[in-house]
Amino acid sequence: MDVGVFIPIGNNGWLISKTSPQYKPSFDLNKEIVVKAEEYGMDFALSMIKLRGFGGETEFWDYNLESFTLMAGLAAVTSKIQLYATAATLVLPPAIMARMATTIDSISNGRFGVNLVTGWQRPEYSQMGMWPGDEYFASRYDYLDEYIKVVKELWATGKSDFKGEFFQMDDCRMLPKPSREIPIICAGQSASGMAFTAKHGNYNFCFGKGVNTPTAFAPTAARLQEAAEKAEREVDSAVLMMVIADETDEKAMAKWELYKEGQDFGATDWMTQQGAADKKSGKDTNVRDMTDPTSVVNFNMGTLVGSYEKVAAMLDEIATVPGCGGVLLTFDDFIQGMDDYGKKIQPLMKSRQHINHSAAV
Ligand SMILES: Cc1cc2nc3c(=O)[nH]c(=O)nc-3n(C[C@H](O)[C@H](O)[C@H](O)COP(=O)(O)O)c2cc1C
Repeated sequence: MDVGVFIPIGNNGWLISKTSPQYKPSFDLNKEIVVKAEEYGMDFALSMIKLRGFGGETEFWDYNLESFTLMAGLAAVTSKIQLYATAATLVLPPAIMARMATTIDSISNGRFGVNLVTGWQRPEYSQMGMWPGDEYFASRYDYLDEYIKVVKELWATGKSDFKGEFFQMDDCRMLPKPSREIPIICAGQSASGMAFTAKHGNYNFCFGKGVNTPTAFAPTAARLQEAAEKAEREVDSAVLMMVIADETDEKAMAKWELYKEGQDFGATDWMTQQGAADKKSGKDTNVRDMTDPTSVVNFNMGTLVGSYEKVAAMLDEIATVPGCGGVLLTFDDFIQGMDDYGKKIQPLMKSRQHINHSAAV
């Protein structure tokens, strides 16, 4: 199983709480995390794009760096780890994104890939006058389908004359070509999102669910497998999980309880409202499933809370889920969390025995 880290490009990482570690994003912080990830043999690092925060007392995600430029910097200071940036495709024309990706492919010597998002939070785009209207909720993946066709054409041939509903290329040129086929990932949870990844992607990210229920995402992974079979391609899921670990289960659980007590309701209310804003396109997206009371404080992602041994065992359980090829980790405290993962958790994992621990212990 591949293991990656979802780096904190926004303030406070993924905990929407007044009692969790409070910090702002910076290049230095993310560099420290990714250098550690590389040292501990992690396979990849991903940064998201978020153009508007959720506010509240903690000003959650009001501070966010930009994904491609951050990954370009990180590409220059690493040498082994795969790096993924997220493309806000609504505001980044495909020929520009294709060229940015080719540039980071060059900086990283072929270690770069792209996470494609359609955008789901209207104010991120309407604040710039760039939201196409609420009909877009339903046509997001039709738009993305044309987008990736243009990008792939440019990467493969250096030019595109694509004519579609959303994009019209006119002898568009883009050289040099990247050094390899640039991997595409997506995080569609809706039927149309998964169909998109099944057709064009190498991996689909999905949300883990619940607290200490590591395999609860299995039905979502199964839906992706069905979509991949239909598309006659092989595509795996990678599940998003937060790790809160300590020497004992009790100590780890005490931290989780503390974070929950400090929930920033101003910010979580905003998130819930935004997640429910799509009133038109049917009920097939998990974006709106943002009200799980057990874990709203960590963005409703799955949470693994416990001793290092317990977390290692739960990560190994994840590896047994059919169609799961990877896990994407966040931490309550990223610096401590990376060291705990590298030195105390990974060495106990059966699914990571192929990693040489010598650098980590
Ligand atoms: C690991 C992960 C990373 C994501 N990164 C972003 C991001 O950077 N920006 C964004 O707008 N949405 C992001 N999303 C949301 C997805 O792109 C997607 O819209 C969401 O999972 C709902 O699926 P749907 O689009 O099929 O409805 C992410 C989701 C996951 C699970």
